[in-house]
Formats: sequence, C-alpha cells, structure tokens
Amino acid sequence: MYSEKHRSSIEDPQQFWAQAAEGIHWDKRWSRVLDDSEKPFYSWFPGGRLNTCFNAVDRHVDGGRGEQTAIIHDSPLTNSQRRISYAELLEAVALFAGALADHGVEKGDRVIIYMPMIPEAIVAVLACARLGAVHSVVFGGFAANELATRIDDALPKLVVSASCGIEPARIVEYKPLLDQAIELAGHKPRHCIILQRPQVAAKLLPERDIDWNDAVASAQRHDCVIVDATDPLYLLYTSGTTGQPKGIVRDNGGHAVALHWSMKNIYNVDPGEVYWAASDIGWVVGHSYIIYGPLLHGNTTVLFEGKPVGTPDAGAFWRVAAEHKVACMFTAPTAFRAIKQRDPGGELIAQHDLSALRTLFLAGERCDPDTLHWAENKLGIPVIDHWWQTETGWSIAANCLGIEMLPVKAGSVGPAAPGWDVRALDSQGRDVKPGDVGAIACKLPLPPGSLTGLWQAPEHFRTAYLNAFPGYYETGDAGFIDEDGYIHVMSRTDDVINVAGHRLSTGSIEEVLAAHRDVAECAVVGVVDELKGQLPLGFLVLKAGVDRNHDDIVAECVKMVRDQVGPVAVFKRAVVVTRLPKTRSGKILRSTMRKIADGEDYRFPATIEDPAALEEVGTAMKSIGYANPSASE
Ligand code: COA
Ligand code: AMP
Repeated sequence: MYSEKHRSSIEDPQQFWAQAAEGIHWDKRWSRVLDDSEKPFYSWFPGGRLNTCFNAVDRHVDGGRGEQTAIIHDSPLTNSQRRISYAELLEAVALFAGALADHGVEKGDRVIIYMPMIPEAIVAVLACARLGAVHSVVFGGFAANELATRIDDALPKLVVSASCGIEPARIVEYKPLLDQAIELAGHKPRHCIILQRPQVAAKLLPERDIDWNDAVASAQRHDCVIVDATDPLYLLYTSGTTGQPKGIVRDNGGHAVALHWSMKNIYNVDPGEVYWAASDIGWVVGHSYIIYGPLLHGNTTVLFEGKPVGTPDAGAFWRVAAEHKVACMFTAPTAFRAIKQRDPGGELIAQHDLSALRTLFLAGERCDPDTLHWAENKLGIPVIDHWWQTETGWSIAANCLGIEMLPVKAGSVGPAAPGWDVRALDSQGRDVKPGDVGAIACKLPLPPGSLTGLWQAPEHFRTAYLNAFPGYYETGDAGFIDEDGYIHVMSRTDDVINVAGHRLSTGSIEEVLAAHRDVAECAVVGVVDELKGQLPLGFLVLKAGVDRNHDDIVAECVKMVRDQVGPVAVFKRAVVVTRLPKTRSGKILRSTMRKIADGEDYRFPATIEDPAALEEVGTAMKSIGYANPSASE
C-alpha cells in the first residue's frame, strides 16, 4: 500500500533505503545508511563503495543479459535505427574509458559532454562513470556562451563532442560552437575527442582535438574504478535566478539506489522491458530515465533522435512505441500539446498497435487537464503527471504504479513519493491549511539520489535552497496540497521560466539584452503560450538619446539571445518602453507584468513607485497582442 510505504520511508528512512540498496552491487557495504552529523548537509551510504557503470552495464552481462538490447537508437532525423546489446555496450564503454584514460582522465576529473542524441553520448557518459570521472552533459541547444560558462565552472580536463546535431530544418554544427566556447572560456581543456558524424566533417585542431575513432582504435579496455558512494558521479547545470547556472552535484551510491528503486516502484517496469523517455540527454530526465534508471534496472532504453511532430509527422511517437514494444513512456506535456494540435482526432494513434504500452508519464512543466484527458482518451491507458526537478534527480511526487495505483486527479502531480516529506509553507515556515497555496518545501533529509550540493559552492547551496525555511529544502515551486495529500504545483516563486519543458532563467536572457549598446535597462517575463507552456517576453528601456528604429533594436536583441543563450530560449518578442514598473525599493514588478500579459487579474502593489509605468507596459503588451485586463482595486 502506498500510504504504508510512504509512512515507513519518512519514519525510518534508513531502514527503507537500506532495503532498496540491496538492488545494487556494492564492492563494499556502507558503514552507515545516512550521515546526518553535518546538518543541513547529509550523505547517503558513507563508507560504501561501488561503480555506477558496473551496475548499469557489466553486472547485466555477468548476469546473463549480454544479448539483450540495452539501447535502441531510433533516428528519424537520419532515417536510421541501431540496436546495441548489453555486451556490445560493455565493449564500447570499456574501450572509450580506455581512450579517456589515455588522454589523462582520472577519477575525480571533470569531462564535459556536448553531444546530440546518439549512442556514443551514452557511451561517453558511462565511460566517465567507469573511471570515476565526473561528467557534465551540456544540452546541444545552448549557445557557445552557455557552454563557456559551464567550462569555466566545471574546469573539465577534456571535452567529448560530435561534429553535429540534427534538427528537422537544419544541421547544427557543434564544433564551431565548441571552439568558440573554448575561446571564450578562461579555462582551456587539454583535449577534445570529436565524433565525426557523416553529415558534417568537423575541422580538428592539431594537438588538442582527437577523432573519436582514432582515440578508440588505440585504446585498451578499462576496468571499473571503484569509488565511494559519496563521490560525485556527475554535474548538471540548471537555471537559477541569475545568469550563472547552478552545478547540481549527484553522488554515486544514493543515485544508483534511488533510480534502480524507482523503475519498479514508480514506473512499474520489470527488467528486460522497453522503457522510453522521449527527452534529451542534456536534461535531467535524459540522465535519469534515458541513461541511468533503465540501464541500472536491466531495461532496454530508447534513444530517440527526432521530434514529436515533423519527423515526419505527429505519429512519430506511436510508430516508435509500437515498433519497439515500449511498455512505459515518459515525455513532457508540451510534446503532447504539439501532437494534439496536429492530430486532434488521434487518427495517427489508431494506426499503430500500442498493445504493449501500459502507461504514459508526463513531467517537466505543469500539465493542463485538457492535455491529460486527451492523452487518456486517445491512448486508453493511465496517464500519470509527476513532478520533479534537476535538483531532485527523480520524482518528488508521483502516483507510484509499482506500489499501488491511486486515482488520477487532473491538475495534480499526485501524492509525495516515498522518501519525500512535502509541505506547503507560509512565509514564516508554517504549514498552510490543505488547499491553501504556499511555498512547496521538502523536509530534510532529502532521499537518496537528490542533489548533494552545488559544485564548489556550499554557501550558494545554503542560500539557494536551505536558508529560506530552516530544516527544509525549498523547491522554488508554489502550490497546494489537498485534503487527500495530492500535490498541485502551480507556479515558480522565482524568475525561472519553463519553455517547452526546458527550464530557463530570465536573468540569463536579461544579461544578454542589457549588453546591447542601446539598452539601458530591461526585464524578461515568461508569458503563457498554448504550445510551449511559457515564452519569454522582453521589455527594453533605451539609453537617453537613442533614436534608432525600435524594430531594428528588437531584432538585434532577438539575434543576440539566440547567439548567446541558444535557440532553445525561443526568445522572439520584445517591446520598447520608457521605464520599467518597480517597487519603491527598486525591484522590477515582473510577476505583475506577467499577470498583465496573461490576462490575469492583478493589483497595483502598495509599494509601486510609479503606477504609470505599469500602465505603459500594459499598453505596450497590448500593441503586440497580449491580453490586458484592468487592475482590480
Ligand atoms: N540542438 C540544437 N538546437 C536545438 C536543440 C538541440 N538539441 N533542441 C532544440 N533546438 C532548437 C530548435 O531547432 C528550435 O530552433 P529554431 O528556432 O531554429 O526552430 C529551437 O531550439 C526551439 O526548440 P524547441 O523548443 O524544441 O521547439 P520546436 O518547435 O523545435 O519543437 C516541441 C517544439 C514541443 C515539439 C519540442 O519543444 C519538444 O519536443 N519538447 C519536449 C521537451 C522535452 O522533452 N523536455 C524535457 C523534459 S521531459
Ligand atoms: P527542471 O529542473 O528543468 O526539470 O525543471 C524543474 C521545474 O519544472 C520544477 O521546479 C517545476 O517548476 C517544473 N515542473 C517539472 N515537472 C512538473 C510538473 N509535473 N508539474 C508542474 N511543474 C513541473
């Protein structure tokens, strides 16, 4: 029963997770399940030693799964498919680990992986884990500048990349972006290993760059390096309130235990079944449920290099699910909104045999009830919205199908998952009443698999997550918990926005806009978009004396954001205003501006400095088609 499991995980987390840890191969068992001697910092399974790659690959080959397919690469963008067995994966990973070691990578070194959705990206990730090196995957849709920021924070010894990624309408050449990023960065990685894809031949620099095939040809297979459970496995950068991304640190032991446990208990799949997370390896969903979760559990994972629509049509997901007999699928609501828009009647769904598909999980952004019901009706299977973050690594709230399927409530992400003591708090840190909106926070300690800190920034970890509510982790989301304990996530409490399931900081876009020669001041807010959930909208105040055409300035700003943050920001709209609405203490009223754009009721904040400024942004928004109700008293 869910309620018993959840209760036992909160009352006796040590016993709960010690039992879950039996699903993992340990080279040395832990001395304690949980070290809470340095509150508010905790560590899971101290004293334990293991290798995550061994658990995800070698042990399945040793245990008789060598011939089972580990990875299905399905790429409508290159019109190809590839199946890689666990035995083949082991060979590829051991050799690539040897290649990394030949180029100086050792336990604890960082390796940045900037690659498209190809099996070699998974090989590179696992090869790092094999060596005890710390990988940091950077999403391909980010521009050189974002990559440079991550290089300067992670200080990688080596970068693994590919000549290109493929988008439906264009080839994205990665190598020039990588070269530019290294040029921009203060830190210079010693080597770059580049996989040449047939679509584009990247120019390699002598001394620094090595062709992937050459690196592997001369390499010897490398064994697993046993690491401490508490050693870092990877860093994954995510957006915070400022332009500086936060380097989320994941450990080896807790991560392996939690992800292995989640495959059966949350997703209800058995080893050997096909699991498909239609996400990207550059995001946490990709890390946890394209790579580590399914492989730790002995599943077959699908690596899909395509889009929900346009590759070639809105039936792509159903073709893949049917062809590979996917048992459980996971994607973002935005993908479903895109499919629903093109195939509202679900005719393309009906053309495929989806009898193997038992469940669909959604996450990454708020799921509107319409989309949830549409998916339920058209697929005829349970559709489960669940909630998590890069920081948490797996779901904070979910209907845990492997424990007990509870009723689905549209608009809710389900009850807290085992291990998570979730509260809605008022500004004083007191629990609010069921149904009342509060800041959503999780009582410490967080369960295994969640972040152990921010890379080289313990103080930032405290200020960003732990200080607001002592004894709790602040999620940055606001919402309510209803009488049945179901959690409803409504919005962010900070300036993070969510565009097509991608988390972005308005601060990073503002930094770029502020650098435009004519811009004196700016603000970016996330406004509602029917397809992508939210889209960034910019407000520009020009420097005195600038009398250039506003459209030209806006176009230049749009290009700057695309070049410096990346196309994934989808920054396409901005308006020029004479001033920004602010409080008397100088804080820009972003949330009021967002409400105006979204047509929500809003009030003039009592602390507003100049109400006319708010009226002006309202008029400016109206001029570009955003709703503009009048303020309530
Ligand atoms: N490398 C380079 N560019 C990329 C990229 C990548 N890996 N991923 C996206 N981009 C580019 C796109 O080509 C597009 O560029 P354009 O402005 O030239 O058209 C831009 O970034 C915006 O991409 P996206 O938001 O993905 O829009 P889209 O119109 O191509 O597709 C959806 C819309 C809804 C189909 C798509 O956003 C989607 O599948 N989202 C699901 C997201 C997801 O899985 N999130 C993970 C959480 S589970
Ligand atoms: P990311 O770290 O990129 O996974 O983004 C995490 C953020 O996305 C969360 O803090 C939420 O704001 C949002 N999010 C993720 N899943 C959901 C969901 N199921 N419902 C509502 N918001 C979600």
